[in-house]
Amino acid sequence: MNSVCVIGLGYVGLPLALSFAMKGYKVYGVDSNPDLIGELKRGETHHLESYKGKTIQEILRQQLQNGNFVPMLDYKEALGACEDIIVTVPIPVYGGKPYYEYLILCAREIKENLRPGQLILLRSTVVPGTTRNIFLPVLEESGLKCGRDFYLAYASERIAEGRAFEEFENMPTALAGFCEVSTERAVDLIKVICRAEVVVASSFEVVETAKVIENLQRDINIAMVNEFERFTKAMNLDIFEVIKVANTHKRVNLLYPGPGVGGFCIPNAFYYLNAKAEEIGVELKLSKTARMFNEGIPAYISDLVIKTMEKYSTSKKVAVLGIAMKDYSSDDRLSPALEIIEILRQRGVEVKAFDPAVKKEYEFKVNTLQEALEKVEVVLILARQHGIDFEKIFEFIPPQKAIVIDTRDVFTSKQAQEKGFVLEKI
Ligand SMILES: NC(=O)c1ccc[n+]([C@@H]2O[C@H](COP(=O)([O-])OP(=O)(O)OC[C@H]3O[C@@H](n4cnc5c(N)ncnc54)[C@H](O)[C@@H]3O)[C@@H](O)[C@H]2O)c1
Repeated sequence: MNSVCVIGLGYVGLPLALSFAMKGYKVYGVDSNPDLIGELKRGETHHLESYKGKTIQEILRQQLQNGNFVPMLDYKEALGACEDIIVTVPIPVYGGKPYYEYLILCAREIKENLRPGQLILLRSTVVPGTTRNIFLPVLEESGLKCGRDFYLAYASERIAEGRAFEEFENMPTALAGFCEVSTERAVDLIKVICRAEVVVASSFEVVETAKVIENLQRDINIAMVNEFERFTKAMNLDIFEVIKVANTHKRVNLLYPGPGVGGFCIPNAFYYLNAKAEEIGVELKLSKTARMFNEGIPAYISDLVIKTMEKYSTSKKVAVLGIAMKDYSSDDRLSPALEIIEILRQRGVEVKAFDPAVKKEYEFKVNTLQEALEKVEVVLILARQHGIDFEKIFEFIPPQKAIVIDTRDVFTSKQAQEKGFVLEKI
């Protein structure tokens, strides 16, 4: 039976591990978080992925039952059983600086257990140069030589949360190996789960840099459309309609504005590129401006809420619908919603927030739409979720009293006019 070890069982690693398991691989899933391993062993996950009509919860339970997926804390057992090892541990950004410790700890654990013939495929998003200059030297502390005794490749991960299974399968994978054998082994491994093209690049650095700029161009695009939004708002135009019209041009692909940029990938991209840029003496003026602009959006939205309350002389209470960092996601890491809520609370606004997909508990979080909407007039929409029926807002607040601040294009002005509520769109 073929086997593979996947290290880091988060938003990427878990569905990746299960994709191999569904292909009949024995997958040893390693994670350093004991609570997570406990949950996975019980068949529990809060992820919102699905594949061919099955939820990730169903897939997880099935693959645990048939023995194809074995979650564990122990590197030794997992690495002892596999020739191929995939790494998906994160490099968070703290205070604008990438923090390599999780990746280094992971490399040290691999080094302790490394055997001749093994392939290590790094899939984390990294600062360009990390695979060669940070990851590889730790592995070689084992005394084994890369390209002779063991093999190393880098393949960027391009999935969007919520579409992970489908995108592992159908998104082209960019990959580079340390040597020919590393590349061949890594391509063969990726092809187990990826039907799309595997794009082989000339070096780790090409793929690492391509991945970071793929994310950064989205950050810049979002900053741009949020700037356009300020213009269209002053013109009394609906930015979402303007963008829909602009995007009918075949060579235009504008993203949509929103309450800010969250999650693990896009906000970190500038800091990954900038870490290397500073080292090599390059200034990233445009990228930095875009990042700073995006970091200022939560304050802009909070201002909009307060100004709206003042304009309509409402109480300083708001129902926030959606805490996740984007629509239909359970991920609230670096979510702009959390920042908006914090600013509003600091400015004396009472916040009740509802998001049935987000697992984490907060003191301002309530469990039902009704609780969020009790005794409020102002409703702030920050993310769509399958468990939030926005039409129901008007069952709890009479439309003539409701003031909806919509950052996600849930409602049109026509609907607002027909129903009789006030709609403030970004
Ligand atoms: N989330 C996405 O949509 C996405 C998309 C593309 C790329 N990526 C990249 O993939 C990587 C993983 O992201 P994620 O969203 O899955 O992160 P995550 O935080 O959801 O999961 C990472 C997991 O790694 C574990 N971990 C940390 N250090 C470890 C160690 N030394 N040994 C074993 N386990 C360890 C953590 O406990 C956690 O469960 C990141 O580099 C990210 O930038 C993420």
